[in-house]
Amino acid sequence: MRMQLTRREFVTLAAVSGAAMLNPAAFAQASAPLVTRTIPSSGEPLPPVGLGTAEVFDSDDEATRQKAGAVVQALLGNGGKLIDTASTYGDAEQVLGEVTAPSDLRPKLFIATKLESPDEAELKRSLARLKTAKLDLLQLHNVRDPQQSLARFKEWKAQGVCRYIGITSTFRSAKPALEAVLKREKPDFVQIDYSIDDRDAEQRILPLAAEVKAGVLTALPFGRGRLFRAVHGKPIPDWASGFAGSWAQFFLKYLLGDPRVTAVIPGTSDPAHMTDNLGAMRGALPDADQRRRMVEFVGAL
Ligand SMILES: NC(=O)c1ccc[n+]([C@@H]2O[C@H](COP(=O)([O-])OP(=O)(O)OC[C@H]3O[C@@H](n4cnc5c(N)ncnc54)[C@H](OP(=O)(O)O)[C@@H]3O)[C@@H](O)[C@H]2O)c1
Repeated sequence: MRMQLTRREFVTLAAVSGAAMLNPAAFAQASAPLVTRTIPSSGEPLPPVGLGTAEVFDSDDEATRQKAGAVVQALLGNGGKLIDTASTYGDAEQVLGEVTAPSDLRPKLFIATKLESPDEAELKRSLARLKTAKLDLLQLHNVRDPQQSLARFKEWKAQGVCRYIGITSTFRSAKPALEAVLKREKPDFVQIDYSIDDRDAEQRILPLAAEVKAGVLTALPFGRGRLFRAVHGKPIPDWASGFAGSWAQFFLKYLLGDPRVTAVIPGTSDPAHMTDNLGAMRGALPDADQRRRMVEFVGAL
């Protein structure tokens, strides 16, 4: 899949999305070929950079809706479609529903949300808030018990309420439970914390996800912004300039350099940052040697 933009189209998109940082490097990224990933259980293509919505869209007010609208425009305008949210992210589901429904953007998006338990009332609330009859991905949030069942989620999938089901956790202490549920229930997706300075997922979850053919979504790809603070004021090393035009792309391309990662879901309330992050799904990805060098570089900060 390629998305070729003329300079004029790019400028228009950037203006719509509020991306004020236009420069030739950004244009080169925008016209580079797209990196694509497919969902292992179906073979459906999914653009591998999405949007996380924890904390950023959690109050349903005019200012938040304006920001969310601009970020979603930047996502779609630059070839993205995946948005990750949850029933517990304040008003985020509501804000997304209000931003996407009136302009009929829903069919262009891949919406993933999360429930705390297999509870019908919670599901109905999420569908109503997102103003959609069907979810793309329904995840069981914060798995913590190895016996947790996805039976109800599987029924909902069979009934057409959602197209895919998944599980999530970003708590180290819950990883054995996450592994047990992943192995037994074989969901379509597993979502875990994974960033260049938090690589625990590489030990067990990524190999197990590949074994059971689950797609992997990486939460907290910037460690809640920790990585940007670590490189503050530092230039990107020359040896990375062939594949990363910004620090965000450096951090995200490390993750996408592993083909088992289906998509990264950085959170942002800034359309220019959304556009920057989407640059990570264009052009070259780092190879194994470059990924090792990236880890060493970040480890030495
Ligand atoms: N258990 C779970 O399932 C679970 C747990 C935690 C998170 N998650 C998911 O993972 C998503 C990502 O996590 P997160 O949002 O907490 O953390 P994150 O993506 O690691 O970092 C977000 C931070 O990075 C900044 N940022 C984003 N793009 C940037 C760019 N291009 N340049 C500079 N700064 C940039 C954001 O600020 P700006 O707003 O200024 O861009 C924000 O402060 C969540 O939104 C949620 O969807 C899931």
